[in-house]
Parts: sequence; C-alpha cells; structure tokens
Amino acid sequence: MKRATRIMLERPATPARVRGKTFVVTGAASGLGRASAQALLRAGGQVVAVVREEAQVRRARAALATAGRAQPEVLSADLAARKEVEEVAAEIGRRYPALHGLIHCAGLRLPERTLGPDGVETMFAVEVLAPFLLTLRLLQPLRQGESARVVVVAGEEHRRGLLGAPRLDPDNLQGERKFSPTAHGRHLTLARILLAQELARRLPSGDISVFAVAPGPTWTDRFRHYPWYRRLLAQGQLLVRRAQPLEAGAQRVVQAAVDPELAGSSGGYLVEGREVVPSPPARDLEAARRLWELAEEVLGERFLPSEQTSP
Ligand SMILES: NC(=O)c1ccc[n+]([C@@H]2O[C@H](COP(=O)([O-])OP(=O)(O)OC[C@H]3O[C@@H](n4cnc5c(N)ncnc54)[C@H](OP(=O)(O)O)[C@@H]3O)[C@@H](O)[C@H]2O)c1
Repeated sequence: MKRATRIMLERPATPARVRGKTFVVTGAASGLGRASAQALLRAGGQVVAVVREEAQVRRARAALATAGRAQPEVLSADLAARKEVEEVAAEIGRRYPALHGLIHCAGLRLPERTLGPDGVETMFAVEVLAPFLLTLRLLQPLRQGESARVVVVAGEEHRRGLLGAPRLDPDNLQGERKFSPTAHGRHLTLARILLAQELARRLPSGDISVFAVAPGPTWTDRFRHYPWYRRLLAQGQLLVRRAQPLEAGAQRVVQAAVDPELAGSSGGYLVEGREVVPSPPARDLEAARRLWELAEEVLGERFLPSEQTSP
C-alpha cells in the first residue's frame, strides 16, 4: 500500500479528470453527497446517485440534472437494509461494467439508538456495514475502471473525547453497551477511517485506491433528526467553527476521487485537502483487523481474507 506524500489539494475537479468516468455517490439526496454528485456532473462525469427511498428519486434527478450535460442515474436503496444494499450493488454492477469511483457520503446522526430492518443498529448499518458491503460487491466494476478510487467521507471528530481520542471499542460498535449520540457518531467516524485503511491494506497493491476524507466543517443539515434545541446547538457549533459552504466541502470529497496527485497511492487520510496522520486509535492495525472481522461476522460472510494482504 503506497501512501501519498503530504500534499495540498486545492484544485477543483476539472473536465480533463472527470470526463468519460463513472462515479457512484451514496447519500446523494442532500448535503455533501448531492453537492459532490453535482460537481462531478458539472465537470462532465457520469454519476450514479444513490438515495434512500424511491420517493426521493424524482427530486434528486431534477436537482442533479441541472448540474451537467450527462443525465444522472438515480437509484434508491435503504442502506440500513442488507437486502437493498445487495440489490443496488447488483443493479449497478449489471448496468455499469466499469466504475471509476465509489464515494460513500451516506450517513446519519440519530438522537437515540434504533435498530434497522435487519436488527442491526441503524447508524452502524448505514455508516459502516453498508459502505463495507457495497464496496466489496462492486470490486469487479471498480477493477475494470482505470485507477478507480473508493472515498469514505469521515471527519476529525474521532480525535475528540474527554480523555483524548478514544480507541475502537469492538463490544460497543452498535451502541449495545452504552449509547450517547455524540460518542456513537465519533466512534463510527473512527470505524470508517479504520475500515478504509484495512480495505486499502487488503487490496493488492496497484489495485483500487481507497481514501478516508474529512472535508472539514460544512454547512449541511446532518443533525436534522435531533430535537430542535440540539440541532440549534449543532448549527451554533458550525458557526463557531466557521463551517465552509457546501460546495467547498464537496470539492474536497471530489478531489480525493479524481486528483492526479494521489495516483498510485492508497490508504491515506485527507483532511481539508491535505494528507495527514490520523489519531493513534485511527492507525491501530489490530483494531482495523478486528473491525473487519466483526463486519464479516454480522454479515455472515468472509471477504478478502487477510492471507491475501499485500506487504
Ligand atoms: N457536514 C459536515 O460538516 C461533515 C463533516 C465531516 C463528515 N461529514 C460526513 O459526511 C457524510 C455526509 O454528511 P452530510 O453533512 O452531507 O449530511 P446529510 O445531508 O444528512 O447527508 C447524508 C445523506 O445520507 C443519506 N442516508 C441516511 N440514511 C440513509 C439510509 N438508510 N440509506 C440511504 N441513504 C441514507 C441521507 O438521506 P435521507 O436524508 O433521505 O435520510 C442524506 O442524503 C456523513 O457521513 C457525515 O458524517 C459531514
């Protein structure tokens, strides 16, 4: 797994980098997912946008159609449900033999612990299991694409905690032992970074590249499921942290998918356009391996066994 050097990434997605390429973007009904899909379409790319439910398809198509000349494909899948992840992966694989990027923007912040249709905690299912399974099911079309990249949108919140950056807790990944919405969100952000690195380690060198990206505080409504006062507090924090406009955050997501400076590298963690070293818990190889195995256990299937891990 070759790492990128520390570089500045402030170049927009240009048509030369995007035209003729196909990108799958999840969470495309709103926020960073929608803005990333729009940026790719504007630059001449083909986009397969994944939204949560059928009722969102028409509106998402209309919102994306104005962004570029290519007509976006909009598919729906509740990523909390394994069956729907499998179905959308199969449909994408059937329709698109070659993919050049898979951008995982779907996510959610819930004020309470809830279980999804498979009995798995909802945030864990959407933010960890779904990107894991969708990526692994789409390896074949990604391998057909030229230097394809997988981008997992994460965040710097994993560094925060009362006693410093918390470590992965394999026994509380679904908030089963204790659940605090903020701590659970941080925990899953850490899990997403670890998963991206483990995927990069397990893929043969020179294969698909994988990056975790923290775009920086960005104006979206991602705390919309919280009660109004906590939502207001979250918006106040965005104000204090001088959150960037949506398009700027999306640009950083898209850069990870197309910037030629990253060619040949994989496993990096990009923060606001630069590759940085993640917190020690987010570099914990053993925790990453354990997380991979736990995801396999929940899904009842093994993927890319570590015996095949490239040196
Ligand atoms: N905004 C920031 O400052 C920031 C910073 C760092 C990292 N991030 C991360 O960036 C990602 C995108 O966040 P955002 O700020 O753009 O928030 P957002 O606007 O809430 O976008 C999240 C998207 O995920 C979709 N989603 C949620 N549950 C789903 C499900 N079960 N199946 C399919 N799609 C589902 C949502 O669709 P519905 O609305 O239809 O449910 C929504 O379109 C998240 O992982 C977030 O943690 C955001």
